[in-house]
Amino acid sequence: MQDYRGAFALTHAQLHEVLATAGMAPSLHNAQPWRFHVEPGAILLVADRERSLPGIDPDDRELRIACGAALFTLRLALHGQGIRPLVTLLPDPAQPDVLAAVRPGGTRPITPELRRLLDAAPRRHTNRHPFSDTPVSLPEQYALRRAAQDEGAWLHIVREPGDRARLRDMAATAHRRQLTDAAVRDELARWTGTGPDRTDGVPASAGGPLPEPTTGWIHRDFTGGSAGSLPEDKRFEREPLIAVLTSHLTGRTGDLQAGQALQRVLLTATADGLAASFLSQVVEVPETREQLRHLLRVTRPPQVVLRIGRGYPVPATPRRPVTDLLDPRPTAEPGHAVR
Ligand SMILES: Cc1cc2nc3c(=O)[nH]c(=O)nc-3n(C[C@H](O)[C@H](O)[C@H](O)COP(=O)(O)O)c2cc1C
Repeated sequence: MQDYRGAFALTHAQLHEVLATAGMAPSLHNAQPWRFHVEPGAILLVADRERSLPGIDPDDRELRIACGAALFTLRLALHGQGIRPLVTLLPDPAQPDVLAAVRPGGTRPITPELRRLLDAAPRRHTNRHPFSDTPVSLPEQYALRRAAQDEGAWLHIVREPGDRARLRDMAATAHRRQLTDAAVRDELARWTGTGPDRTDGVPASAGGPLPEPTTGWIHRDFTGGSAGSLPEDKRFEREPLIAVLTSHLTGRTGDLQAGQALQRVLLTATADGLAASFLSQVVEVPETREQLRHLLRVTRPPQVVLRIGRGYPVPATPRRPVTDLLDPRPTAEPGHAVR
């Protein structure tokens, strides 16, 4: 394994822990499309293009969102080691796959707020099961919105019954549209309903029961077709909090910003005892993404749609070992290093 000594003055074990924590981030189909290149004075976050999903995510937008989530968790983990991270997004135009350079910006004890988020990282799991009907309180909603704002994004809560009904229709339309696409179906087959031998992909155990087709919020079947409907005495919550994330910036930087904000929102939710799942179809199909932008009356295209509520514990999905996350590229020449 690469010799870590010198990097941020962390021991091998500490750096291993930092990268393992970063790798706990969520990603589309749990593809974990990230690599880390460790240099004595910087950790580079590199997009792993071999893990892109061109059928469902042809522009790599969600790949960058996932990498942004890993970047936020990497920042938290460094704070946990008493190191203040300095981040440069897209540091080198000549190397577009290098999404961020993180350098040490001095030592400082972690704040209680960041410690709370860091402690939540291993407990955060996408929860596709029914939530309870107890609503997310206004102070909890405020904390989620503030988490997004702290990372240069905005979390829109969709409250109006008419808007919610239209968004649900858009999600259903997008879902149907995607299922007619052979490339999307092929990626679902390859990456979901996966067995215990895999360190990536979404195992059947992480899938939830299918919601009622007419009233429920559509989500994907990750069980490889074995998802049943709910037993008679169980049902999905009536009114989950539906929240849409938009980033202040656009383009690739905006995607990375959205990813960092997403993870801050999700970890805030976890720390507050809330659960979340995704309704991404609507932002993956260009027409419905544009319709949703109009519905929200915003200029920035929506990046992520979340269902948030009070769930019951769900199992973790697998992660690749840290040794697989290390980028094998040779260290950049002095003077040619990523700025
Ligand atoms: C950009 C993005 C989009 C996602 N879209 C969906 C989705 O549409 N439906 C879903 O059930 N999960 C979705 N997920 C969640 C991933 O499937 C999940 O993060 C991954 O399986 C890892 O599991 P974990 O979140 O429990 O760690 C998405 C995650 C990301 C980062």
